[in-house]
Amino acid sequence: MNLNNKKIDNYGLNFVGTGSAIPSQFVKNNDLGNRVDTNDEWIKTRTGISGRRVIGENESLSDLCTKAAHKAILNANWTPESIDMIIVATSTPDDLFGMAPKIQSNLNAKNAFAFDLTAACSGFLFAVVTASQYLINGAVKRVIVLGADQLSSWVDWDDRGSCVLFGDAAGAIAIERKDIEVDDLFAFLLKSDGSRGNCLNLSLNKKYSSLVNSFKYQKGEYLPIQMNGQEVYKFAVKEVPKILEELMQDQKINPNQLDWLLLHQANQRILDSVAERFSVPQEKVLSNLTNYGNTSAATIPLMLDEAVSDGRVKRGDLIASRGFGAGLSWGAALFRWHGAI
Ligand code: ACO
Repeated sequence: MNLNNKKIDNYGLNFVGTGSAIPSQFVKNNDLGNRVDTNDEWIKTRTGISGRRVIGENESLSDLCTKAAHKAILNANWTPESIDMIIVATSTPDDLFGMAPKIQSNLNAKNAFAFDLTAACSGFLFAVVTASQYLINGAVKRVIVLGADQLSSWVDWDDRGSCVLFGDAAGAIAIERKDIEVDDLFAFLLKSDGSRGNCLNLSLNKKYSSLVNSFKYQKGEYLPIQMNGQEVYKFAVKEVPKILEELMQDQKINPNQLDWLLLHQANQRILDSVAERFSVPQEKVLSNLTNYGNTSAATIPLMLDEAVSDGRVKRGDLIASRGFGAGLSWGAALFRWHGAI
């Protein structure tokens, strides 16, 4: 955890471009009603979600990542060869050994090293903060950070309590080190508490098979997502906002100075509750979960790309962001959006 980005020399971080990509299949609430006992009204009232994107045939998460990163590179006005590092925040890679090198190769970013990072729905913020440390110490100059997940492959589609919540997507941000006085990312705070990890799991199925003689091995299979929705909800509305409060107090920022709240998109009721706690009006709360559901590590960059692309987020805007999810892990960041300068 850290409250301030520690600047070295005159290096500063500049967020220079965003991108995102979504699968083609759109599964509406009423479609799910043909599989489990649910309906559009229940899902919309309890979550704000109308539909979600699901990766289908001839699509893959690494392809979505490639498209999202490609758009961020174009918006940043970079060449792929100029990228030094690619971090992919995901819990659901196409390959458990890591998906980032495949994206690096798809992009032809031949000078970049690439790795995956897992912190569930907080993954994007954790990855941006990780990237910031490489950037401010001068090790790298240009980084692509992706947040991407395909929870549709891991949800139990017969569990109405969780399957209605999730969707698939990828989002990306291009970050550059420049000789500027002020970092775009100027404060952050990250937290983990594994002692409460059992409210949300995608865990290994402890099924043992015989190896040889009396040796056993654990087969590599995972159980579908298991979630205690009410516990996660309480955590999201009671505890997670505290770190945003702490950050704003530390930076002497009053919530009425914020241009936008950019929160992990899990449930509209959670967004409303955080906005109410900080007395931030609805029109300053970025929300697109009605169209996508909870896309895990992708929600924040997907939302940011939408709001930057349609002109809502403007140069110089002050944004407070926070993520939370399995682990438990949670994080908050304060940053300014400048785009390429
Ligand atoms: N359709 C219809 N009825 C349903 C559905 C459904 N899809 N799901 C649950 N119900 C029923 C329940 O069975 C229950 O019925 P009962 O009263 O007869 O027992 C009733 O609706 C109320 O259920 P609750 O679980 O109390 O509903 P709640 O208002 O808490 O909403 C929800 C559930 C939406 C899951 C909420 O708790 C929530 O959003 N929690 C946060 C979850 C979250 O954000 N998870 C992701 C974290 S990020 C990550 O790391 C992946």
